[in-house]
Amino acid sequence: MALTINVVRSVPVRAKAVAHLVTSDRIAGEDGAYDWGTLAFSGFDGKAGTTTVVTVDGVPTLLVGMGEADAVGTAEFRKAGVAIARKSKKFANITVVLDELDPDVGQLAGLSEGVALGHYEFNQLKSEAKASQLTKVSVVAAGKGVAAAINRGQIIADAVNWSRDLVNRPGGELTPAVLAKEAADMAKAGGITAQVMSPAAIKKARLGGLLGVNRGSEQEARLVRLTYTPKGKAKAHLALVGKGITFDSGGLSIKSGTGMMTMKMDMGGAAAVLGAMRAIAALAPRVKVTCICPMTDNMTGPDATRPGDVLVTRSGKTIEVLNTDAEGRLVLADGLTLACEAKPDAIVDAATLTGACVVALGNRYAGLMGNDDQLIGRIKDAADTAGELLWHLPLPDEYNTLLDSKVADIKNIGGPYAGALTAGLFLQNFVDSDIPWAHLDIAGPAFADSAGDDHPAGGTGYGVRTLLALAESLAS
Ligand code: BES
Ligand code: MN
Ligand code: ZN
Repeated sequence: MALTINVVRSVPVRAKAVAHLVTSDRIAGEDGAYDWGTLAFSGFDGKAGTTTVVTVDGVPTLLVGMGEADAVGTAEFRKAGVAIARKSKKFANITVVLDELDPDVGQLAGLSEGVALGHYEFNQLKSEAKASQLTKVSVVAAGKGVAAAINRGQIIADAVNWSRDLVNRPGGELTPAVLAKEAADMAKAGGITAQVMSPAAIKKARLGGLLGVNRGSEQEARLVRLTYTPKGKAKAHLALVGKGITFDSGGLSIKSGTGMMTMKMDMGGAAAVLGAMRAIAALAPRVKVTCICPMTDNMTGPDATRPGDVLVTRSGKTIEVLNTDAEGRLVLADGLTLACEAKPDAIVDAATLTGACVVALGNRYAGLMGNDDQLIGRIKDAADTAGELLWHLPLPDEYNTLLDSKVADIKNIGGPYAGALTAGLFLQNFVDSDIPWAHLDIAGPAFADSAGDDHPAGGTGYGVRTLLALAESLAS
């Protein structure tokens, strides 16, 4: 159910439930500074991440542990928001009291972001969903910028949740055409320009990588291009490229049954950059952003690309396809070429690109690679701000020979070792070396087998917040 988060001056008389953010100092304090009378806290000590429910004057009251007051930052407020949403599903509304905490606007935004993220559930395909009853969260606060901060957090979480929905929708339903329409509808609602390329336009543009992957599919390919232009003069031009494989069977180099069970998530890169565009359109940073998403599924139809086939990409470079399951890099090759043609100041691509990256970094960290240390540094800072995890990996020139092809300019697999790095090196072949570029391999964090800090099992919306934070950092 849709959620409203607003600011109120005091706890409304009709509040169904109340939440208090409680520091551990306050519980430990000898002055008995809490106003819940003689409540037994049943061991509740205010530690970060802990909660308990008590009844005060007949009103269910959720106590959310914030840990030590000195250590409370944006991340703690975000976590508290998630806890509030998760613990109050059976109430129609809840009012949040901050007590002695005095959050700045960033922390307040974190709180509402957490609430809206924690409220997320994907139940549109359940015939009898036990949906959360929560429709309104009110935060007791006052002062300049408070309402805007609460609003900002919700805008960001709404974009993340929208991205999660895209990832969670099944591949047989969220086809390339449907994904492209979702992107175009979002752009229209957000007042940014959208261009959707049909198969004819894709052929005309000689996007041989995208066409090669699409050959085995009944579904038409699409390429979506969104442009956000700020009102004032742009401080920079950022290009975002997202891998939009709506289902990855592996193609003729077919995956195992278990290997393809979650492969509806293979458009997680597109979902990340599109989600970022949604937040950017709403928050209007002074930076121009071009977003390019090649979209197709990777299927095994009778005319599917065969191992050994050679594709001619838009760049003119030829690729020998030795494994049709290394398809993401084929569509990204064309996406990156188009991005370079836009002459941006920086390019960032996001892709669920390699199982090897998951082996290396696990399912919480994305792999970050690139050709420019300054851009890498900015993205690390952006991820810190956003609360997303990533790790910088090298692009070793020594490994480029692993991609040498006997018949074409390059082959699409680099052998059994360092698979995340050889995939990154492959992409680098399609980027002008004088344009700062970074690649985010989000194969691990884009999709979760079980619930995590701020998401249920399924699509996580990973990358939306980091890319938004990057756009905002380029705008300042
Ligand atoms: N979409 C997969 C990567 C992936 C694997 C994402 C697991 C999320 C979880 C990608 O298209 C792929 O199949 N990569 C191959 C590359 C290999 C054939 C060089 C892989 O990782 O096995
Ligand atoms: Mn694949
Ligand atoms: Zn894939």
